[in-house]
Amino acid sequence: MKFFVDTADLQEIQDLAATGLLDGVTTNPSLVAKTGRPFLDLVAEICEVVEGPVSAEVTATDFETMLAEGQKLAKISPKIAVKVPLTPAGLKVCKQLSADGTMVNVTLCFSAAQAILAAKAGAAFISPFVGRLDDVGTDGMGLIADICQIYSRYPSFTTEVLVASVRHPMHLIASAKLGAHVATMPPNVIRLLFGHPLTDKGLAQFMADWQKTGQTILS
Ligand code: E4P
Repeated sequence: MKFFVDTADLQEIQDLAATGLLDGVTTNPSLVAKTGRPFLDLVAEICEVVEGPVSAEVTATDFETMLAEGQKLAKISPKIAVKVPLTPAGLKVCKQLSADGTMVNVTLCFSAAQAILAAKAGAAFISPFVGRLDDVGTDGMGLIADICQIYSRYPSFTTEVLVASVRHPMHLIASAKLGAHVATMPPNVIRLLFGHPLTDKGLAQFMADWQKTGQTILS
């Protein structure tokens, strides 16, 4: 399972990339706005920091402008996955960019029917937003289960399920159980995955007992 971080904060991306466990980055216009940085420069810098795909979203809604924006973003680096909204025009852009060899991440997916359309349009990634569905009283993880099941029945669908709008570690665990290919998580959720009070307690005990032996391994 691949881990992407869902942020446009370069410092956070650098810190998490240093763990060696980060496979990519997703950004969106709201996350970019928070940084106050010029978008194209920021995306280029993010591509320098991580090995894997970096999602950069178009900001128009009509086909021609979205396509031109996507083509411009794709030129920044082969790591770019152009993010397009799940609209008829967005799917048309997806089909064209994918045919040209550019990775496309279709975002704002809230139904299995939409996910089928994205796969048919050749998307590299489909981004169902589990947290936002939970927020409105709908079962976000149920959608992931449906999409994973549907995609697994059609070997010609190569689209990866990228679980988005992840709010807590339970979303990640449930996604992994369902076999989702990728989860994109905010930095705080990734950090939460590492911790357990029994790990801290156990380590403190081991260190205290080891000190009593008076030994060192490296001398
Ligand atoms: C995904 O690509 C989106 O950027 C993101 O996961 C949205 O998450 P939110 O619902 O917490 O804003």
